[in-house]
Amino acid sequence: MCGIVGYIGNKKASPILIDGLLKLEYRGYDSAGISTMENGFISNMKDKGRVKNLYEIPGIDDLKGVVGIAHTRWATHGKPAKENSHPHMDNHNIFSVVHNGIIENYQELKEFLVQNGYHFLSQTDTEIIPNLIHYYYVKQDKCHDSLLKAVHLACNDLKGSYAIEVLCKDAPDTLIVARKDSPLVIGVGEDENYVSSDIPAILSYTKNFYLLNDGDFAKLSKHSISFYDVNLAPIEKELKSIEWDVSACEKDGYEDFMLKEIYEQPKSVRETIGSRLKKGEKVNFEDIGFTKETLQHFHKIYLVACGTAMHAGLAIKPMLEKLCHIDVIVDIASEFRYREPLIDDKTLCIYISQSGETADTIAALKLSKMKGAKTIAISNVIGSSITREADYTIYTHAGPEIAVASTKAYTSQITLLALLCLYFAEVLESVPYDVINTIKEELLLLPEKVSEVLKDSEQIKNFANKVYEEKDIFFLGRGTDYTVSQEASLKLKEISYIHSEAYAAGELKHGPIALIENGITVVGILTDPNLVEKSVSNLQEVITRGAKTLIITNQEINQTNYDEVITIPYTNPLISPILSIIPLQLFSYYISKEKGLDVDKPRNLAKSVTVE
Ligand code: G6P
Repeated sequence: MCGIVGYIGNKKASPILIDGLLKLEYRGYDSAGISTMENGFISNMKDKGRVKNLYEIPGIDDLKGVVGIAHTRWATHGKPAKENSHPHMDNHNIFSVVHNGIIENYQELKEFLVQNGYHFLSQTDTEIIPNLIHYYYVKQDKCHDSLLKAVHLACNDLKGSYAIEVLCKDAPDTLIVARKDSPLVIGVGEDENYVSSDIPAILSYTKNFYLLNDGDFAKLSKHSISFYDVNLAPIEKELKSIEWDVSACEKDGYEDFMLKEIYEQPKSVRETIGSRLKKGEKVNFEDIGFTKETLQHFHKIYLVACGTAMHAGLAIKPMLEKLCHIDVIVDIASEFRYREPLIDDKTLCIYISQSGETADTIAALKLSKMKGAKTIAISNVIGSSITREADYTIYTHAGPEIAVASTKAYTSQITLLALLCLYFAEVLESVPYDVINTIKEELLLLPEKVSEVLKDSEQIKNFANKVYEEKDIFFLGRGTDYTVSQEASLKLKEISYIHSEAYAAGELKHGPIALIENGITVVGILTDPNLVEKSVSNLQEVITRGAKTLIITNQEINQTNYDEVITIPYTNPLISPILSIIPLQLFSYYISKEKGLDVDKPRNLAKSVTVE
């Protein structure tokens, strides 16, 4: 939700800021803007719509400032419009601010500021921030470090979440940043420093980063960075080097990030397995190091997440229950956090989040910690917020995922969860070793098999081109195939805007079959030998009522019954979602392309949902 970039150095700031915004557009694209320090005044240029619209603003090429801040917006308060775009300035044009997050008490603060003579030009919550900073700045009579103190005092008044950057006309060589519950990183260059909502946006400039914690403030010049805690006491931070390759954040010849990320899955699954699983050895989770007693102490496991990450939890529930003999509850973070869930110190809560910044997932994690549960975070982003809250963190190592619709993160999350499950089963000795061993062997074969699935893309494309104008598409499956149906249906909705539903095939007769009519498209997923016959019967019921069918299977079925059958390699049904989702990711992709839509940036969505 909203992306922010900052630069302070010797180079012209505007191209660096716009370049960073283009890479952060996945966080929102309702409007964009930049402020730069220009010979004693702050220039502020912004407009609604995509970042590329900034190039059309007269005079933007003439900006010379070497210090600046920038923002791409996902609208919350106030419609997408120029006046609601960031940066926002105070009434006296002394401060310019960009903000990611939501200020919950902005109405109250607005009233206070109005009573003190301030007026407002936008409907945003953000506009109170520069004015509040101004209010405290004036009060301090510009004493030493009054800028930092004013920002600190203003932040003390804010309730909600924020990552902010502040430019001040009176301090042209300084940039102040602060964060609480919204992400912010600082990249360090030579005689220059960068700020961003995430690492990939500035990875082409530096690989050295400082990660800010909640409540931290930083004061940047081109030569130095000073860090402060929530009480403005100076603190030290460790500089981290990031190993990601710059090309991982570029399209690398692919038409879209989503397609690139789909094709990266043989590699990302291999990286997730990494050194955790080697032929003939025990699964390695030394970093967690649970004993049999610790694991036996848990009465249930919660898997909590949002969107695709929650679907990864659904996919792994059957495996955890079967191999570890423990109750597993999968929950949506935004529901879990407000439902007083029954958790205590006998509960293990696992939080799954690609970005590690999803507001609801973080809040759910905090809640379960308060109730005494042990917590594990599964994230793709090193040092993300969730990883700093959890008792233990394990990383998917899928590499940066840029497209809004998640693909490789999902398969890596299931892979990592499957490894964790095997580790638990080994420690618990809950099933015979050969059961564990068979799945381990299957897991090691997955990267090869993912490559094989990807070879069927033409067949998928042809079917997608036949059905791209449909109004509704249904997905059916049983067991883990049902969980894949849910993810496939979400993918289709997200990027093709086609209405779609996923049903447990056995539930069809209890209502949804009423929606099946001549010509409708139904996708069936059949990968579990124990359930295939049942699902085939359910598919027969929709075919009888005129449905066109696409089947994803690794079973020997009578192919002539269906309009298109995609055959994928066999793997153990407990981990088959890692393979069976791939043709369906491509299916959504090709439908979206055929409709001429923006695959990587679907309407109304953002990749990182840092507001609830
Ligand atoms: C957003 C994204 C989804 C993602 C979900 C959870 O809705 O559009 O693709 O699955 O957030 O994100 P997380 O980063 O927590 O996995």
